Amino acid sequence: MRQPLVMGNWKMNGRRSMVEGLLKAIMADIGDLFGVEVVVCPPYPYLGLVMDRLAANSTVVCGAQDVSAYTDGAYTGDVSAEMARDVGCRFAIIGHSERRTLFRETDAIVAQKFARSLAADLTPVLCVGETAAERDAGRTQEVVLRQLSAVFKECGSNAFDRAVVAYEPVWAIGTGRAASPAEAQTVHRFIRDVVARQSAEAAGRLRILYGGSVKAQNARDLFEQDDIDGGLIGGASLAGADFVGICRAACIG
Ligand code: 13P
Repeated sequence: MRQPLVMGNWKMNGRRSMVEGLLKAIMADIGDLFGVEVVVCPPYPYLGLVMDRLAANSTVVCGAQDVSAYTDGAYTGDVSAEMARDVGCRFAIIGHSERRTLFRETDAIVAQKFARSLAADLTPVLCVGETAAERDAGRTQEVVLRQLSAVFKECGSNAFDRAVVAYEPVWAIGTGRAASPAEAQTVHRFIRDVVARQSAEAAGRLRILYGGSVKAQNARDLFEQDDIDGGLIGGASLAGADFVGICRAACIG
């Protein structure tokens, strides 16, 4: 049995007051949530504040939105996986499509970041997914396989023993047009099958999240699919009630 996981990716949003308000709203509502692991990923400058406000409540933990491909050293502006772990992060989002596209992260760089996260005892959450053009060309599985293979190449056949994968079709991110549950399930199943070729046990344990226009209204139908183990939430994670609604949809109790 895989424990459902819901992660809020706040992206580059927030100010102190907004962070305080959002956490207050989440905390007020989330108390009785059963069986779901909940993670929030604020921008780096607010990690301390979030950590501080979460301290009394162990239901929610923190993740980083990205980590450096390097270990500590002369890399101005970067934040290492070791640092993220040191300040209390437990997860790290790796290879988000916005990083791949806007910041030109290649599969090889993403794989290095994945390796750094594992080495720092952070759980990497590898984002994979195709663009609209790739989807229309029938290349979804080819793209996802390429993205997974780069990580296997860097980290070896047990790469996903302690990791999470997030399937985020690029065309569904921030568009209000989520993949249908059946559509997402097909790709999730494919991801699990790819991992199973290396290790059936790791594949059985692997949590595969869906991301892309998840709302409280469509979350349950997505999460009910056999191979969808939770969600990576963007826009809807910035409103307390919406985010908690999505967490509730993942409840197994
Ligand atoms: P939206 O939920 O805003 O579509 O964003 C998804 C996402 O990119 C999460 O990482």
